[in-house]
Amino acid sequence: MPDIDPWGDVEIGDYSDKMEKFGIDPISDVEDRLPDNLLVRRGIIFGHRGLKEFLDAKEDGEEFAMMTGIMPSGVFHFGHKTVVDQILMYQEMGAEITVTAADIEAYNTRDMSLEKSRELVIEEYLKNYVALGLDLDKVDFYFQSEGGNDYHLKSKQFAKHLTQNEVEATYGSAAPGKITSALTQYADILRPQFDSPKPTVVPVGVDQDPHIRLTREVARKYRDADFYKPSSTYNKFMRGLQGGKMSSSDPKSYIALTDDIKDAKKKIDQAKTGGRDTLEEHREKGAKIEEDMVFELLAFHLIEDDDELARIKREYSSGEMLSGELKQIAKDRLEEFLTEHQRKREEASEKVEQFVRENT
Ligand code: TRP
Repeated sequence: MPDIDPWGDVEIGDYSDKMEKFGIDPISDVEDRLPDNLLVRRGIIFGHRGLKEFLDAKEDGEEFAMMTGIMPSGVFHFGHKTVVDQILMYQEMGAEITVTAADIEAYNTRDMSLEKSRELVIEEYLKNYVALGLDLDKVDFYFQSEGGNDYHLKSKQFAKHLTQNEVEATYGSAAPGKITSALTQYADILRPQFDSPKPTVVPVGVDQDPHIRLTREVARKYRDADFYKPSSTYNKFMRGLQGGKMSSSDPKSYIALTDDIKDAKKKIDQAKTGGRDTLEEHREKGAKIEEDMVFELLAFHLIEDDDELARIKREYSSGEMLSGELKQIAKDRLEEFLTEHQRKREEASEKVEQFVRENT
């Protein structure tokens, strides 16, 4: 088996191990050239490949782009929000934004019909993306199934630059559905360059790195255009509320951005914390903050201010703050966030439907 399977489990464990093995550079290399963003400050975006080239283009006033994709799987939850937060960061930097809905991949690897993908992408993904701040007037959004002739042609041509050995060594399998999904994804990643070559960054979880590596190979070998090798950034995955993996198939592991607020708060109440078994022990030893999923939710999504987060961390890990108090902070923040978000999503709804009618 390969060490990273893009269609497998997303629990990656030790990130430094993967970085070393696959030549991912630490984000600290380029941190001072990135916007002041909590994902960067908190090391949630922890690594990159070739980001200097992308930043050079930006700083030299040349064209630069961001491309990413979503495979529809179910409801849109806080785990997915991290990708959107990155899209927004690059949107603010002035990158050309391209987003695909991976319906061909879902068809081939998840047994999902194109119709079902479409429905999920509109209701769960696009409406939430727009509510979070994606600018529909600027994005090149497309379904893979409707990517256009040039895109599908290039995707097939890219096959010429791969060997069976390479595919098997990278993905652990050369199953036709996987190869097709992979070739489609290379065309996604290079799509911003079809009109004119330009540095492009692809923000992903480290599970997608095999695709990045092979797209870089393809970009180098393809002769009919002068593609830049795509750059990438890698984000950590937020763990599930019960610890372990956050998964669309286990509602207790996530909070969806469309969850009823009462239900969402109940999930916080039931979440795994790093609190100790007895009050006495907690006061004495303090919380095990690394094992606290409520704190993780605060750090990834609900507390923007570093000083405030640091204060909570200090008080909680010293035992001064109890798990119940931490949960109360999270529930208040969550209620505030979800109320506002759900209002914006409602507002975006009609606009998204019109956009999809006109553009796909
Ligand atoms: N394979 C990605 C996933 O499983 C979805 C995807 C398709 C993608 N094309 C992409 C991601 C291009 C980044 C860039 O979620």
